Amino acid sequence: MKKLRSRAWFDNPENIDMTALYLERHLNHGLTREELQSGKPIIGIAQSGSDLNPCNRHHIILAQRIREGIREAGGIAFEFPVHPIHENSKRPTAGLDRNLAYLSLVEVLYGYPLDGVVLTIGCDKTTPAMLMAAATVNIPAIAFSVGPMLNGWFKGKRTGSGTIIWKAREMMAAGEIGYEEFIELVASSAPSVGYCNTMGTASTMNSLTEAIGMQLPGSAAIPAPHKDRGAMAWRTGKRIVDMVHEDLKPSDILTKQAFHNAIVVNSAIGGSTNAPIHINALARHIGVDLDITDWQKLGHHIPLLVNLQPAGEYLGEDYHRAGGVPAVVNELMKKGLIHEDAPTVNGKTIGENYRDTPILDDDVIRPFGTPLKSDAGFLVLRGNLFDNAVMKTSVISAEFKDRYLSNPDDPDAFEGKAVVFDGPEDYHHRIDDPALEIDEYTMLFMRGTGPIGYPGAAEVVNMRPPAYLIKRGIHALPCIGDGRQSGTSGSPSILNASPEAAAGGNLAILQTGDRVRMDLRAGTVNAMISDQEIARRRAELDAKGGYPYPDHQTPWQEIQRGLVDQLGDGAVLKPAVKYQRIAQTKGLPRDNH
Ligand code: FES
Ligand code: MG
Repeated sequence: MKKLRSRAWFDNPENIDMTALYLERHLNHGLTREELQSGKPIIGIAQSGSDLNPCNRHHIILAQRIREGIREAGGIAFEFPVHPIHENSKRPTAGLDRNLAYLSLVEVLYGYPLDGVVLTIGCDKTTPAMLMAAATVNIPAIAFSVGPMLNGWFKGKRTGSGTIIWKAREMMAAGEIGYEEFIELVASSAPSVGYCNTMGTASTMNSLTEAIGMQLPGSAAIPAPHKDRGAMAWRTGKRIVDMVHEDLKPSDILTKQAFHNAIVVNSAIGGSTNAPIHINALARHIGVDLDITDWQKLGHHIPLLVNLQPAGEYLGEDYHRAGGVPAVVNELMKKGLIHEDAPTVNGKTIGENYRDTPILDDDVIRPFGTPLKSDAGFLVLRGNLFDNAVMKTSVISAEFKDRYLSNPDDPDAFEGKAVVFDGPEDYHHRIDDPALEIDEYTMLFMRGTGPIGYPGAAEVVNMRPPAYLIKRGIHALPCIGDGRQSGTSGSPSILNASPEAAAGGNLAILQTGDRVRMDLRAGTVNAMISDQEIARRRAELDAKGGYPYPDHQTPWQEIQRGLVDQLGDGAVLKPAVKYQRIAQTKGLPRDNH
């Protein structure tokens, strides 16, 4: 049997002084030498739940069952806190903290006596932050989801996380509801513990963590309050101990095939536009070649099977009842779209795990032959304003299609006047200003909202039209920007434009009134201005020091701004990528005394 790395702390005959030092303090709350020197694996529980992260807070309860599973299998649990990341409360963005939590967890997993770890995933960025760290350190790791909230209801209709806000703000702008009903309507969408119940970034990333092989089959979609969630916590705790004995590591699971499976599943579930950012970041940290254009190549032709808001009508409870990730993967497998040999944390392959897991409600999860939409994956667009940007085509509405994509001579293209906003404050301030002369053929641009500009990349590119247009029945205009968009938004925006304005991207030189043409077949978005004019404006802006962004407010904002990559490349910390599989390549850290 392989020597456990925790032995170097608790049972090192070559340095008994240090062994004594490491042991004595861990004995001070009642753990015994018998346990710590027994050769049992020490298993970390990376605890992401706290009062600051209500989405993951239920992990505090579930961790008890994880511990019991670890004990049952002959391991010892060491629970520790992860830097909190809460999507809805962290200012200026939770995106800023993903890489901070990543860095911190790398230090913890590498620098403490841990032989394996359970990653308690859930709220949007908690999932990628922890997976990325496990990839960099590469000790045995298993993810455990907190599960989605129960369905929200208001006056007999399902109200979904986030999605209801985008709808309610339109209703308020149109004068249909007042402040009280606005708040009541939005709050109805969050009836229990758990993460967002729509197919937003949380459901997406939790589903993809299962599809990529990093959590137990059937785990992702179980609602947080269900008894099965507790049972799965126990099974996960049991399993990680065996993984340590088998030396089954993230690098064994996160293969190129696994990433390709994740892209295919993302299209079928109608996954968030944040997925390419996080999945590409994970690929870079484990050392798998994955490009932003792979998302279109491998994912665009895949149909939308999962009928969840914002692309469809149902919510998390329904997804689980209909079979969750296993049913989706099974359906895709039948069409030969999944690499069945990809290994998973339970020691079996994707094919073995999901061969017998059919759809249980075919309105919630559609059979391949009767999807909600065909060709539902992302388009990756480029042009003279940016090198790459992502468009979620599964949420293109009939209204949108009719208005912008119905010219019989040019069915995939649209040309309009640009109205440009510098950040969300500028947009909120001016969107209803009649002087902008926004009509139904205007394209709204948002810049200054990328990883450097904001910082952390804000989810602000989905902009509602002016109130006077909503009253006339215009519910969506084309939106393009260098920020992100909430996964719960149904807006078919063009997002994550890289490079961002603050990193020298040409969105910085676009002006209100410029004509812009998007061509979805050609995969381009181009401002209809000459190269000379672009060069002239660029020189003028550069002479002023480039596109401005606000002062750093914290040390981390400054540090991250100096090191972060663009959204199309996963927004990773550039110097971090060269540190690969450090538990194997860097040996153990030195003793501390
Ligand atoms: Fe935490 Fe959506 S805000 S999961
Ligand atoms: Mg969000």
